[in-house]
Amino acid sequence: MKETEFLARNYSNNIAEGQVFWASPSNIALVKYWGKKENQIPENQSISFTLNTCKTETKLSFVKKEKQDNLFSFDVVFENKKNTDFKPKIETFFKRVERYLPFLKAYHFTIETSNTFPHSSGIASSASGMSALALCLMSVERQLLESDTTLTETEQILTDTYFNKKASFLARLGSGSACRSIEGDLIVWGAHKEIAGSSDLYGVKYPDTVHDNFKNYQDTILLVDKGEKQVSSTVGHNLMHAHPFAQERFKQAEDNITKIKDILKSGDLEAFIALIESEALTLHAMMMTSMPYFILMKPNTLEIINKIWEFRAKTGLHVGFTLDAGANVHILYPENEAKQIYEFIKNELVAYCQNGHYICDTIGFGAKEMNS
Ligand code: PMV
Repeated sequence: MKETEFLARNYSNNIAEGQVFWASPSNIALVKYWGKKENQIPENQSISFTLNTCKTETKLSFVKKEKQDNLFSFDVVFENKKNTDFKPKIETFFKRVERYLPFLKAYHFTIETSNTFPHSSGIASSASGMSALALCLMSVERQLLESDTTLTETEQILTDTYFNKKASFLARLGSGSACRSIEGDLIVWGAHKEIAGSSDLYGVKYPDTVHDNFKNYQDTILLVDKGEKQVSSTVGHNLMHAHPFAQERFKQAEDNITKIKDILKSGDLEAFIALIESEALTLHAMMMTSMPYFILMKPNTLEIINKIWEFRAKTGLHVGFTLDAGANVHILYPENEAKQIYEFIKNELVAYCQNGHYICDTIGFGAKEMNS
């Protein structure tokens, strides 16, 4: 699909007010997106597990403005408190998506949003937050189309396939990785010659065979550092522009998508762990070798990694880690080894978490529309 196919159909804004409500998950990349071109087009392809319990829940209320003007009008309520911190990011998002959602200036919006995981956990909430907002806006578009009786019956309908694609397309313009949070359970973003239907514009469900070893895969997130991110994603992605190893890295990610395709099919957990750990360390290596440079791991991140490696060598169990652009560690492991690995996490790793905090999650199946 081309970008122009997401331009809105010609409908009238003839609903006075309404409310929509979505819960959308976070995701964790296996092959990482790091570096972007203009308009949030990724420099390399990525693939992620959609999470199940780490979610953002967003209720969007909309009321038609009495007087039409040329401004975006919205309030944000985060975890039951009026919030102004998120407004600039949402204003930028509205500017980027207005071309595809022409009703944005016709309404005043109240965005009531909260996370199922602690906000100050250091877990990036932009993927779940931006995807939840994009889905809400798609639901508004759907209502406006359905209520426009001047349209033909076919014109009034948004198919679920189109709805999800456009939601992913819009979410991407809010935060790149958010485009991988609409559906589950494995999502690819970025056009790749070996992944049918893949696109730079939106995430697609991984279309090929996945071995049962990966069903209900477990993710325990160890919260090593709950502080603000040292480097914002925007700054981080920009550092790839003048990065001496950028082209090699983009090529490596492309090759890793090819490799993970075989791994997902064969169920080879050793190869899976080698690939995801290498991806995590490469992401951090890119930051350490940027100018300016950053170290986002903390001493406890390394303690945890070393403990995982020791435990794996000792037991032969299939426990591996991945990292986001921060100090927290995602521990990934198969469901049939969950009992022993979870015991190990509780007994030996939780001590390295800030205030002993960690979150247990699994692979999930994507966003859900909720009743208000
Ligand atoms: O979506 P952004 O711009 O916050 O970038 C996120 C990038 C990583 O989380 C580090 C990797 C990824 O693919 O999710």
